[in-house]
Amino acid sequence: MTDPVNEGLDPADMREQYRTTELSVADLAPEPIAQFSRWFKETATSPAIHEPNAMVVSTATPDGRPSSRTVLLKHYDRAGFVFFTNYDSRKGAELTANPYASLLFPWHPLARQVVVTGRAERVGRDETVAYFRTRPHGSQLGAWASRQSSVIASRAELLARYEELAARYPEGAQVPVPPEWGGIRVVPDAVEFWQGHENRLHDRLRYVREGGEGGETWRVERLAP
Ligand SMILES: Cc1cc2nc3c(=O)[nH]c(=O)nc-3n(C[C@H](O)[C@H](O)[C@H](O)COP(=O)(O)O)c2cc1C
Repeated sequence: MTDPVNEGLDPADMREQYRTTELSVADLAPEPIAQFSRWFKETATSPAIHEPNAMVVSTATPDGRPSSRTVLLKHYDRAGFVFFTNYDSRKGAELTANPYASLLFPWHPLARQVVVTGRAERVGRDETVAYFRTRPHGSQLGAWASRQSSVIASRAELLARYEELAARYPEGAQVPVPPEWGGIRVVPDAVEFWQGHENRLHDRLRYVREGGEGGETWRVERLAP
């Protein structure tokens, strides 16, 4: 469609044919974390993907208004997927009121996406402190400097706050962990692996946890693309 706002670049004309190998149930690992691990390794070694651990986390208010943003996956294991953020941020507040999240890994250059849904919980304080200590000094100060998601008057205000903190905690000094900052673990109840194919005949294989939270068995179902 010709539309003066799209400057001749119409998203309706953009179309990719995905030429990839089939993903079958028989190829899948017995549980989703092992399968995620396989794909994550392939993604991390692909030069086409920048920041393979970037994922879109979606949250919602208790009355069902959703919001999304990108964060970095920092740890995953059978217990779940962990990212770090400000608990008082918009996402943090939404998760406090409604502790369910969706995580989406957009690995487009490989014609793949992984979607995780589940309950979100705060990680133990010791896990947060251990991770905070591995962050560069500047990022540690940044976590203090930013009251994430609040409206601020200017960038200058943010920089002034950072400079104040840098004077108080020079390089080499131990920066305490901000009380409102920490990890969130999403404990999966379902994990979907999507592999793109020609003619929109994509593979969608979803692991669904059986027996409720803590259940160790997973059923796999194929979804229509
Ligand atoms: C590539 C990328 C990685 C990011 N990683 C994080 C992260 O790990 N933690 C975080 O709190 N924000 C991260 N952000 C910023 C968030 O997208 C977002 O702006 C911020 O967390 C505030 O979100 P909220 O107001 O919806 O809570 C990242 C942004 C990008 C583009």
